[in-house]
Amino acid sequence: MDGTFLMRFQAFILIVVITSQCASAGLIKYVHVHMTNNLGDGTIIYLHCLRNSEEMGHQQIPYNWTCLWKFKQRANLILLCDANIQGAKELRFVAYNKSMDSCKNNCDWKFTQQGVFQYDNGEWKFRYTWPH
Ligand SMILES: *[C@@H]1O[C@H](CO)[C@@H](O)[C@H](O)[C@H]1NC(C)=O
Ligand SMILES: *[C@@H]1O[C@H](CO)[C@@H](O)[C@H](O)[C@H]1NC(C)=O
Repeated sequence: MDGTFLMRFQAFILIVVITSQCASAGLIKYVHVHMTNNLGDGTIIYLHCLRNSEEMGHQQIPYNWTCLWKFKQRANLILLCDANIQGAKELRFVAYNKSMDSCKNNCDWKFTQQGVFQYDNGEWKFRYTWPH
C-alpha cells in the first residue's frame, strides 16, 4: 500500500491525524512523509523523489496543499527529493532517513519563502535555504 497523494489540510487537522496514527500504530509500521506548500498564493512546488533508488514519480504541490508519501518501514530507508520553485535553483534534500533520530514514523516538511522547515520535537526547525 505504497502511495503518494495530495491533501488539503489545516495545520490543526494535520496534527490530529498524526497523533491518531501514532496512537493506533499496529504491527505493520508505516512511514508517513508530508510536505506542505506554504510559499504563498499562486505558487507550485515541483517535486521529484526517489526511495532508495526506486522512482517515486513527479508531484506538484499547489499552495496550501500537502503531499503525502506512505510506505512500509524497512532498514536503510531513504527518501531523496528534488524540489523546484520559481525563482530558486533546484533543492536536493533527504526527506527521510531511517538512521536519523529526529524523524521516525512521521516526517513533516513545510516549504516557505524563507526556506524549508522540518517538524522536530514539537516545533518547526529551519533546515534548508533555497539555493540561488
Ligand atoms: C492558506 O492557508 C492559510 C492558513 O490556513 C489561510 O489563511 C489562507 O486563506 C489560505 N489561502 C488559500 C488561497 O487557500
Ligand atoms: C542517513 O543517516 C546516516 C546516519 O546519520 C548517515 O550516515 C547517512 O549518510 C544518511 N544518508 C543520507 C543519504 O543522508
